[in-house]
Parts: sequence; C-alpha cells; structure tokens
Amino acid sequence: MADTLTVNPLTAGLERLPVHPTTLVIFGATGDLARRKLLPALYNLAHEGALPERFHLVGSSRSEMADEEFRARAADAVRAFSRRPPDEAVLEALLASSCYVSGSFDDPTVYERLEAVLTAHDEEAGEPLDRCFYLSTAPSFFPVIVRELGARGLDTHAGTGGLEGAQARVVVEKPFGSNLHEARELNAQVLDVFREGQVFRIDHYLGKETVQNVLAFRFANAMFEPLWNRNYIDHVQITAAEDIGIGSRAGYYDASGALRDLIQNHMLQLLTLLCMEPPVSFSADEVRDEKVKVLRAIRPPAAGDAVRAQYTAGTTSGEAVPAYRDEEGVPDDSTTETYAALRLEVDNWRWAGVPIALRTGKRLARKVTEIAVTLKPVPHQAFGMDGAVGPQPNQLVLTVQPNEGVTLKFGAKIPGVGGPNSRMRVRPVNMEFLYGTAFLSQSPEAYERLILDAMRGDATLFTRNDEVEAQWAICEPVLNAWAAERGGPATYPAGSQGPAEAEALLEGGWRAI
Ligand code: BG6
Repeated sequence: MADTLTVNPLTAGLERLPVHPTTLVIFGATGDLARRKLLPALYNLAHEGALPERFHLVGSSRSEMADEEFRARAADAVRAFSRRPPDEAVLEALLASSCYVSGSFDDPTVYERLEAVLTAHDEEAGEPLDRCFYLSTAPSFFPVIVRELGARGLDTHAGTGGLEGAQARVVVEKPFGSNLHEARELNAQVLDVFREGQVFRIDHYLGKETVQNVLAFRFANAMFEPLWNRNYIDHVQITAAEDIGIGSRAGYYDASGALRDLIQNHMLQLLTLLCMEPPVSFSADEVRDEKVKVLRAIRPPAAGDAVRAQYTAGTTSGEAVPAYRDEEGVPDDSTTETYAALRLEVDNWRWAGVPIALRTGKRLARKVTEIAVTLKPVPHQAFGMDGAVGPQPNQLVLTVQPNEGVTLKFGAKIPGVGGPNSRMRVRPVNMEFLYGTAFLSQSPEAYERLILDAMRGDATLFTRNDEVEAQWAICEPVLNAWAAERGGPATYPAGSQGPAEAEALLEGGWRAI
C-alpha cells in the first residue's frame, strides 16, 4: 500500500517528532494484550518509519522460551492482528534484534539478566539508549515489577562504561487499582521508585484519533465553543456499547464489572475532554490540570443516579448467545454488572445543572461509542409539530467508533409548495463528516500513538496520578452502594438496548444503540 502520508493532501503538514533510540521491554510479552495490540502496533510503527533508527524489543514473561521462539511467536501475532498485512522484510528487521528474558516477575535474577541485555544494547550503540518498561501483566504484578526495577537501579539510566545517561520510563496498563484505596497504594508504590514524569498510565481511549479530535473540534473551531455551556446545552449522553460478551476474560471481568471496566477510565476520559476548559497550551500538565478540575467538580453520584444490570440469554448479530451467568468461568450466582449507566453533573460555572449521562454494556444491540450533545430547544416554536415532523433540538454527535466522524442535526424546510392549506414545515436533517472519506486513510490503532508518545516522553495522552484517583473517587460511592445492596443487578436480554431501568436516568430518553 502506498504511504498515505505522501499521497493524501489532507495529511500534509504532519510532523514526525523524533524518538530517542530506545530499548522497549514488554513484561507480559506472551499475553493477550501484547499479541493482539502491542506487537502489531510496533510493527505498524516500524512500517511507517516512526520507530527510532536504533530500536530493540525485549520480551519478558514467565514461560520458558528461546529468543528464536519469541521472535517466531511475535511475528505470528503481527501476521494475525496487524491492521495492514505485514511486509515480511520490515517484520524481520523489527524483530531481528529482539530477545526474550524468562522468569517469574518476583525473581531478582530476571532483572539482572534484563540489565545485562540493556547494557549490551547501549554498548553496541556506543550511546545509552532510553529504556521503556511496559507493564502488560496481570495488575497484581505491577508493584512487584516496579519494586524489582527500582531494586536493580533500572528506574534511572545514568549510563554505563563511560556513556552519558538517558531516560528510563514505565508504562502501566489498566486497571490502575480496583478502588480508590488500591489506586492510592499503587501510586505510592510506583512513585516510590519512579518520578511522575517517568510514569505513563495507559487509557487506550486517549490514543484513539476520534477521542483526540474532541479537543480539535472544540478548540480549533470558533463555531461551537460559544455554545458549549449550560446556557445552550440541554444534556449530554455518552455511550460505549459493545455487542461482544466477555470472551475468555471471565476471571478478570467478573471481579471488575462494567463500571470499573469502562466508566471509571475510558468514559470519564471522554467526559473530561468534552467538559474541560481550554488549556493554556497543549503540554501534558496544562491539559491534565484542566481535566482534573472537571473530575473534581463532579458531585458524588447519589444512589438514584446509577443503574446496573446483567445480560440474560438473547440474540446478537443473528446468533443465540447465553446469559452472562452461563458464560464459561462465570459463577452461577454472579451479581457482576455487565451494563452500567450513571447520571453525573459537573458542578462548575460552565456546566452546573446539565445532566451528563454515561452508559456502557456488553452484549448490547451493536458496537457504538459516541458522545451526543443535545442543545436546548429554540425559545419560540414558530413552526408547528406534525407527528415526528417539526423542529427538534440541535444535536451534535461525535462518533468515536465505528463510522468515526461528527454529525450535526439541524432543522430544514421540507421542500415543496404543497396544497392550498399547506404551511411551511421543518424536519431534522443531518450534516455529516466521516473520517474515512475525508482523510482517505486508515487511522492508526490507539496503541501505536501511545507507545510512540511514551517513548518520546510525552504524557499528554496518559492519566496522571491525581487524575486516576479523582476518577476512582467518582465511582467509589456507586461501587460501595452496589456492594451493600441486598438485591442483585437488573437484567436485559443480550442483543437489546439495555435494561428498562436505565430509562429513568435520562428525561427524554437515550439514543437508540
Ligand atoms: C477495555 C475493556 O479496556 O476496553 C474491554 O477492558 C473493552 O472490556 C475494551 O471491550 C473496549 O475497547 P474498544 O477500543 O474496543 O472500544
């Protein structure tokens, strides 16, 4: 495929920021995330020439295997999951210098062997390479790995054998704790070893082009921002619906549930980008300062502001699917929610009184992630309503996925002169922008952007320590209330719009999924 950067005039002007030569260590390199996302993302970065000229990959996990086998498995993962079919020569070049360090994460000799590999790469380069440690393991290993990296002195890179120093960074996957207390504890453990500036907490939604576009949409256009407040906006609906079930992740998911899995992180990120004040600059701290202010302005949700539900058997995409409790690995009496909806309010000058409703669920009618902003109706109805025909409030929909784009709904005159008694009639129409057709290029996967930014040391699209704690503080009262409840969650049939109970959260109703 031709390089879209050179053929697409709309992407002209894209700047590639340099990345310092780096050795990337992936802990959990044989895991699902590495196979499906991280290794394919690295391949696509290599394909686009975005990796530094000197780049080494080191895989680490418990399984014993030789470097050769690791390379073969990594190549298979790329072939299976890359967004573009790999060019074998590029793939081979990417993996040529990669190696594998096996062992249990609490075994200090793992870090000793790792250090030897890192030092060898530095010496071969004749300069110290940046070191990026990617924690893609089960969360229980995060503190262990961080502690061992610190014990071995790998949290800094002062340089060895007369070489000047370089950067050391750590990327931490989600979930970052499973409640406020755990998140605080994990922050303390991580920050005991690394400085905040070295820590990159992943929320892969921030790596999505359409999520970053929320900021571009708001702050690069004069048209919408004057309306972006309680005077014009009636309410906001944020949806992250999935048609898939839990696959083979019952162990993780049953202990987590929808609120922790998607609302605490991804959906609150969407909310903060939508509601934040314009930052003074797009530097990591300026942006995150504004985001944290939004989170702190959110009132703790009351019991009536949250709904949870679990799917029963049903049909999705024409296929009969079992109830959540009948999924493999899920206890028969599980009360874990597979659907969660929350009504929040950002209690500040700009947003006070505007309901912001969030909903997410597995096994809903289809996959769609969107932010729908509904404006207040016009103050005077000059045009009559006739059934569904008539003026309706403007609605702006930012579609995160699929069919990435932006739609603006507004009223237009229905054409025609009509009969002798006919009045002018108005109905809603849509104005649409679609990424795929406008830019004629395939968007990169979120992980491509995030891996590159972490290696560059740009933390704008990563969650800061105070941000992650503020997110947990919002979810905590709901989690506690649910834990204390006698009854279990409501139910909804797989393949449906979700539970009827969620309707009460939003006057005027939810958009169809
Ligand atoms: C993950 C959740 O963080 O996000 C999954 O753990 C969910 O349960 C996934 O399916 C959704 O991501 P995306 O990019 O497909 O919207």
